[in-house]
Amino acid sequence: MRHLRDAELEDKRVLMRVDFNVPLDEEGNIIDDNKIKAALPTIEYILKRNARLILMSHLGRPKERDEKHSLKVVAARLKSLIQANVSMSSETVGPQAEAAVAALKPGEVLLLENVRFCAGEEKNSPELSKQMAQLGDIFVNDAFGSAHRAHSSTTGVGEFLPCYAGLLMEKEVTMLRKVLEYPEAPRMAILGGAKVADKIGLIENLLDKTAIVLIGGGMANTFLKAQGKNIGKSMFEEKFVDEAKRLILMAAEKNVELILPVDVVTAAELSQEAKPVITDTDNVADDLMILDIGPKTIELFKSAIKRAKTIIWNGPLGVYEFEQFANGTHEISRALAEAQAITVIGGGDSSAAVINLGLEDKITHISTGGGATLEFLEGITLPGVAVCEE
Ligand code: 3PG
Repeated sequence: MRHLRDAELEDKRVLMRVDFNVPLDEEGNIIDDNKIKAALPTIEYILKRNARLILMSHLGRPKERDEKHSLKVVAARLKSLIQANVSMSSETVGPQAEAAVAALKPGEVLLLENVRFCAGEEKNSPELSKQMAQLGDIFVNDAFGSAHRAHSSTTGVGEFLPCYAGLLMEKEVTMLRKVLEYPEAPRMAILGGAKVADKIGLIENLLDKTAIVLIGGGMANTFLKAQGKNIGKSMFEEKFVDEAKRLILMAAEKNVELILPVDVVTAAELSQEAKPVITDTDNVADDLMILDIGPKTIELFKSAIKRAKTIIWNGPLGVYEFEQFANGTHEISRALAEAQAITVIGGGDSSAAVINLGLEDKITHISTGGGATLEFLEGITLPGVAVCEE
């Protein structure tokens, strides 16, 4: 890996990809700024060396320019976290961005507008990568959370500039390599969060490398449906029920313990006032929706956690933003903190839950990556890491 400390930074224009893809509430306010804070050591390291720092990131998944996904709110937060001057370019590339870079003084920061506003970004368009490269003398990739994406701003730009790994990238890769090389079995994955769609491929790969897989959160609903259970009016992904059936069978064939909820916390609606009803997964009433794992499931998950030697957790197990549906996520956070195992938590929500409970020191590594962390731990070479290699 090419280390930032080997780079000549003095007076250089340093173009750095960060992952400032922070969660926003309905009004567009930042809910959790851990990803911004995680990049601060690299930002400060570069600024101390009198470089001009040009930052780029994505925010959300916009398909075109859309003010809801502007990085303005992130620029404002960054300003409040560092001493240096922070300005924002309303264009990502092109003459306006080039002029903003030219106006930058050593020790100042410019944040470019959301890279996903550019049509070529996700296609890794060489033209766009070239335009980005014109804005810097060297490229630093500190966006571990986006390292599984081969896009213009994460890898393409590296074709045109010397590349270095940022301090966060280096720390993530060092920690996760240790986990990957830790030989003791059994290895466990705990998966939650809303969507199966994002994780089908990952689960399939995990079945080759993991002895125990626990599934909770919204994505468990699709698996419960696949088991033929009535899930009331819970959200699920119709298109993936057959995939979920296939994964259940595949787990059995590979002797992987796939543990699904046996009871759940339900309610008639998702609101602060909603009255929680605990029920077995065989008996979910038609007018209720599943919003958390139930107490029997928590016990089942906890006893599996006690057996595991390496545990990877990604995604909350219920709608933990609401107190009545936070118990599953909180209990599993505590179980992980007490586990006699190597523990890694990836993904903003599960990491935030653990940090809010003050348990971060009891976890081996809290990663800024979600999908990136899972893929890395499956042994996949991430394109955003490869671009920083010698
Ligand atoms: C993440 O939040 O996992 C990263 O920022 C990547 O975001 P993406 O899944 O939209 O590429």
